[in-house]
Amino acid sequence: MIRIDEKKGIFALYTKHTCMILKACDGFVGLAYYGEKIRFAETDYLCRTDVRPFTPDKLPGEGVSFHSAFPHVYPFYGCGNYRESAFRVEQADGSDTCCFKYIGCSTSKEKPKIPNLPQSFTRNCNTETLILYLHDAQAGVLAEIMYTLFQDSDVIAQDVKIQNQGQKPVMLRRAFSSCLHLEGDLELITLNGTWARERHVQREPVRYGVQSIGSLNGASSHTHNPFLAVVRPETTETSGEAWGMAFVYSGNFIACAEKDYQEKTQILMGIHPDTFCWELESGKSFYTPEVLLNYSPRGLGRFSRNYHDFIRNHIIRSKWQYQERPVLVNSWEAAYFDFDTDKLLHLADTALACGLDMLVLDDGWFGHRDDDTTSLGDWFVNEEKIPEGMEWLGEEIQRRNLKFGLWFEPEMISQDSELFRKHPEWAVQIPGRDMTLSRNQCVLDMTRPEVRNYLFRSMADIIHEADISYVKWDMNRQITEAYTPTLPPHRQKEFFHRYILGVYELQEQLLKTFPDLLLENCAGGGGRFDCGMLYYSPQIWCSDNTDACDRAEIQLGTSLCYPPSCMGAHISVCPNHTVGRNTDFMTRAHVALAGTFGYEMDLMRLTAKQVKQIQEQLKLYHQYSHLTREGRFYRLMQNKYWIAWQFVSTEHTETLVTVIQIRNQANQVRKHLKLQGLIPEGIYLFDGKRYTGGQLMKIGLPIAPMWGDGVSRLLHITMELSD
Ligand code: GLA
Repeated sequence: MIRIDEKKGIFALYTKHTCMILKACDGFVGLAYYGEKIRFAETDYLCRTDVRPFTPDKLPGEGVSFHSAFPHVYPFYGCGNYRESAFRVEQADGSDTCCFKYIGCSTSKEKPKIPNLPQSFTRNCNTETLILYLHDAQAGVLAEIMYTLFQDSDVIAQDVKIQNQGQKPVMLRRAFSSCLHLEGDLELITLNGTWARERHVQREPVRYGVQSIGSLNGASSHTHNPFLAVVRPETTETSGEAWGMAFVYSGNFIACAEKDYQEKTQILMGIHPDTFCWELESGKSFYTPEVLLNYSPRGLGRFSRNYHDFIRNHIIRSKWQYQERPVLVNSWEAAYFDFDTDKLLHLADTALACGLDMLVLDDGWFGHRDDDTTSLGDWFVNEEKIPEGMEWLGEEIQRRNLKFGLWFEPEMISQDSELFRKHPEWAVQIPGRDMTLSRNQCVLDMTRPEVRNYLFRSMADIIHEADISYVKWDMNRQITEAYTPTLPPHRQKEFFHRYILGVYELQEQLLKTFPDLLLENCAGGGGRFDCGMLYYSPQIWCSDNTDACDRAEIQLGTSLCYPPSCMGAHISVCPNHTVGRNTDFMTRAHVALAGTFGYEMDLMRLTAKQVKQIQEQLKLYHQYSHLTREGRFYRLMQNKYWIAWQFVSTEHTETLVTVIQIRNQANQVRKHLKLQGLIPEGIYLFDGKRYTGGQLMKIGLPIAPMWGDGVSRLLHITMELSD
């Protein structure tokens, strides 16, 4: 619900449990409050600062102290705000000062579309959008700050439309998407890492000055995820305040927290300004990507569930979101580049015998690719390995009652490829400069329509010909020597944003052409795990690290923002190919069950015991995957010995608890694992015994000791239903 009191200059945005109060003061709009839902009466003091309140009529000349302290909803640069700004525009005379004045507002029941970008949508849900109009007459720039509320959620979607209403072009040097202002002691939580070690949680006090994370490599990156949470020092999983920003964007980004001299903290998120500048011609508009704002007064658990529900209901469009996904075997860790038709069909036969649903042919099926030095861009069958062709292979696989999935790395080109020999200019490069290789490959210039057309045609042909049900879209290197000859010199900094717009356009086109396609995004593991990608694919490969103990930690970190149902998770062999660790075969399954579930191993080498265990694992998947897909997720415990989580059905009548003993401890104390999300008075059945929900949540469930490292238990608990 949006309430506007024009006279008092108050805009109150109410979600189910939160409210955000914006206030117009002296021609500027500030964020007065964002937190738990409250009623309020007196409003005059809101957004005033205790240092030199700016009252132009009474205290002329205090503009600087005003702007440096006022909680601007969209902080601009140039007239006294020396904190990080959200907006900076260079005008025809070379100046870059802007002073956005509030000139009006409107509301809309239709969520305004953000052209060419992924964005939250309003499936089966009423929404309301508040649009604030901020204007700078000298620059001729109008900013429309939009906040969309969703009836079924506490998440608020924010984006900004910038319009050049002047006669001359202007250069947008910075156009962030969102800014929040908070007071009091805070801690910043970010998800950081590297390849095979993605999204580990870091929690640090917010200190004076700027703390920021971001990406400059063209993708949202393994290093930092485009998400942050800000919490109180006392906030835990189940109590305390938590605010968040999640970026619906997959390119270069920045997210920062800045504590100022008044001990107030502003939080900003947007496209990274170091690699961005946009020429906005007269009459044209620029749309920022969307940020998902979130607030929970009851800890990080509820905070995450707010995001999970929102992402599942309003970001992931795919029909697969609500469907049981086919259980696949992926050829990568099974065979790497070393396969031929016989081996593939043998793998397919074994997959079928084990009860799997799909064979995914990963890297190495195209051009003459036998290792990672060649053929990216040549999206036609490798006849050395599959002489019968893709159509034939597709038919053979389907004849076995299996679906067929295929790996592509569309954005890449190998120098040793037919495509490169024909179109060397399609590789991203700066004329006269060496191209820096990574994994022996170069990046295609996705800003060029002819590149996208080529990719669409070659991918669509194969998908059509071989009746492909699933595509794994990979992206295995970072971008260097960013440049495109299609833009003039002063517009080169548009490259990175145009690149990701190109990626989005191609994914959109493929999904429009093949609406049933199950798309899984991937970037050298989880290097592009973000809400932008989830708009196109219902799942993203979480990490190349498939070791169950490491994966449990990666998946738990990822769950801070993203629902488990979108995390690509497979069972692989031991010793694990990334870390060499041995974990129990069932533990690997228990971890994969908290994601999309599948296999990534040579099934032909399974022992008889493992084949039996696969039957058992598949039974678990079919029995419980609805809980991963639709249930609510609770992080129960994480320390160096144990990790435990829980899924609870939407009606609270069924729960699945996973307990992993990462490392055994001698002479363990007896453990009671406190569950969450149950009905206190409900009677729950487990192991032939009856427990009340209250007792399971307050006293906990006894967990019998486990022997060894990397072992686990899966506990299924149901509510006793009265007749
Ligand atoms: C990336 C992916 C892997 C696999 C390889 C193939 O590393 O994350 O899953 O597809 O590429 O080259």
